[in-house]
Amino acid sequence: MAVDEGAVDLELDRAHSARMYDYFLGGTTNFPADRESAGKAMAVFPALLVAARANRQFMHRSVRHLAQTGMRQFLDVGTGIPTSPNLHEIAQEAAPDARVVYTDNDPVVLTHAHALLRSSPEGRTAYVQCDARDPEALLKSPEVRETLDLGRPVALSLIALLHFVPGERTAHDVVEYFREALPSGSTLTISHVTPDFDPEPLARALAAYDAAGTPVQARTREEFTRFFDGWELLDPGITVTHRWRPDPEHDLSHVTDAEATCYGAVARKP
Ligand SMILES: C[S@@+](CC[C@H](N)C(=O)[O-])C[C@H]1O[C@@H](n2cnc3c(N)ncnc32)[C@H](O)[C@@H]1O
Repeated sequence: MAVDEGAVDLELDRAHSARMYDYFLGGTTNFPADRESAGKAMAVFPALLVAARANRQFMHRSVRHLAQTGMRQFLDVGTGIPTSPNLHEIAQEAAPDARVVYTDNDPVVLTHAHALLRSSPEGRTAYVQCDARDPEALLKSPEVRETLDLGRPVALSLIALLHFVPGERTAHDVVEYFREALPSGSTLTISHVTPDFDPEPLARALAAYDAAGTPVQARTREEFTRFFDGWELLDPGITVTHRWRPDPEHDLSHVTDAEATCYGAVARKP
């Protein structure tokens, strides 16, 4: 991947979801417009801080579980600004030969992608700048083709991404495209904001995203469950992110469903 930072418009005058998320996680890759919109969202839904961390830890646990149970190829869509440990660090800790392709459509993620390319010597990582709504272009990209063998199982992750793909069908069409394109044994990991627990404050927080030019669509458990049509859910099925295979070393038992506010699940293609 060649990153020509000079050619990238970072759009610092408007808030971006990746930089707001970075702010919620305590990162430093965010700018005044991002902090202003994040502040407005937090003022009406302070648990966003908890939700972001619970979501990130769901990524850690799900990737670790998949690497420990044999997955060696990872395709992470909607990667976000690098925040250590990144997905490849978790995967390669369990399986040093793991190969990871990251992708996002945010220009700031692109300019920080070098942090995602520090692979273990045995493994490999790559970054593709791509819109998740065009999964065909992603799977045809040279970075994917050169890094992953699409004839072998791939662990696809769409973590805290699909609520940024609004519309009745688009997000489900994206997932269905991947299901058809990836081979049997591939896995699908999704986390997604839901209105099911605390709808009114959440709606006000999402209005702050909308005002910043980033529409967000929270989806109900039923809508979330439909992403997994044709996949077999791994234990424990559909849960709120902090309840998915909890790790005793990172106790999240004090977190409520309303605070975590995202469903999470992992499934395998039969
Ligand atoms: C909340 S962050 C999640 C980051 C990471 N997956 C995690 O869960 O820690 C959402 C990411 O999705 C990216 N994103 C939103 N819409 C996208 C799209 N249409 N195509 C690709 N990436 C997108 C944003 O730029 C942002 O980096």
